[in-house]
Amino acid sequence: MVVNDVGPRDGLQSQGKILTPECRSGLIKNLVNVGLTNIEAGSFVSPKAVPQMAGADEVFRSLPNTDSVRYAALVPNMKGYELAVAAGAHVVNVVLSVTETMNQKNINMSLQKTADVCVDIVKRAKSEGVSAQAYLAVAFECPFEGRVDPDVVRHYAELMNKAGADKIIIADTIGAANPASVRDVLSAVASVVSLEQVACHFHDTRGMALANILAALDAGVREFDSSIGGLGGCPFSPGASGNVATEDVVLMAQSMGFETGIDPLALVPVVRAAETLTGVELGGKSFRWLSKEADKAAGGDVNGR
Ligand code: COA
Ligand code: ZN
Repeated sequence: MVVNDVGPRDGLQSQGKILTPECRSGLIKNLVNVGLTNIEAGSFVSPKAVPQMAGADEVFRSLPNTDSVRYAALVPNMKGYELAVAAGAHVVNVVLSVTETMNQKNINMSLQKTADVCVDIVKRAKSEGVSAQAYLAVAFECPFEGRVDPDVVRHYAELMNKAGADKIIIADTIGAANPASVRDVLSAVASVVSLEQVACHFHDTRGMALANILAALDAGVREFDSSIGGLGGCPFSPGASGNVATEDVVLMAQSMGFETGIDPLALVPVVRAAETLTGVELGGKSFRWLSKEADKAAGGDVNGR
């Protein structure tokens, strides 16, 4: 099972504290050191829109150049694509929100325009030997337009698949999915794209992210986004929550017999370092238990932190 840590992008972009490229790079190196092989390392977007991601080129240029890790960059337009490739991103992620209002609010483009731009970027990436993945954002519910019809998600999954996207990522951007809606959306998507080519991105806003992952696993999906310590959420938006925590996904995978190549106990110091970096208390549902186990394994304080 593949665990893709999006903390350095999705997690950090919503923090009140803006981290330097050097600090962001330090977080990514910690993830690499404990065996994460898929990391969304930043986005090439307007620094006016998202100042937290300014200097993404510096971040990418400072990353350990290892064959075993794929660093992805989120890009909203062709300019972002060019900057990402120039900085050495292995994978570009385009983002197509499946509702009109979300595209307008997020990237100031209509749904149709965004779809056209995403198709152009994916086609160009493929012709230039760059891996391209397509996020279908607000795939379950849009904060402006409400519940999304699974047929709409299917339509855009087919569009991006035909354009040549290597992976289609079904994103529950606001954490409103539940296991039944996950089954419905994945069953619609499976009619046009093999679920081997599909990944899922859940936020834990309503505490259902792990249950949603289980529903997606049962449907056949084997790749999931997460963020270290559940990093994310917005300090200006009460109730907003981060991605499902990497340590929870890794622990659940290991407990169920899925191989991720990551030791959940090794993630404990990475969560703690991310807390120091961001000044925010982090940790998924399993973190207290994992901390105690990690301390025990190190022969230290059994009461954890
Ligand atoms: N990277 C860096 N700068 C970019 C850029 C990119 N990919 N695309 C545009 N810009 C710059 C332009 O050069 C321009 O700079 P200037 O004001 O100094 O001249 C400025 O951003 C505005 O560009 P414009 O083409 O007029 O776009 P806009 O104001 O309509 O904004 C986006 C569109 C897409 C650039 C902006 O909304 C954005 O970056 N959104 C990202 C939101 C995000 O990351 N959401 C979370 C993840 S989905
Ligand atoms: Zn997200």
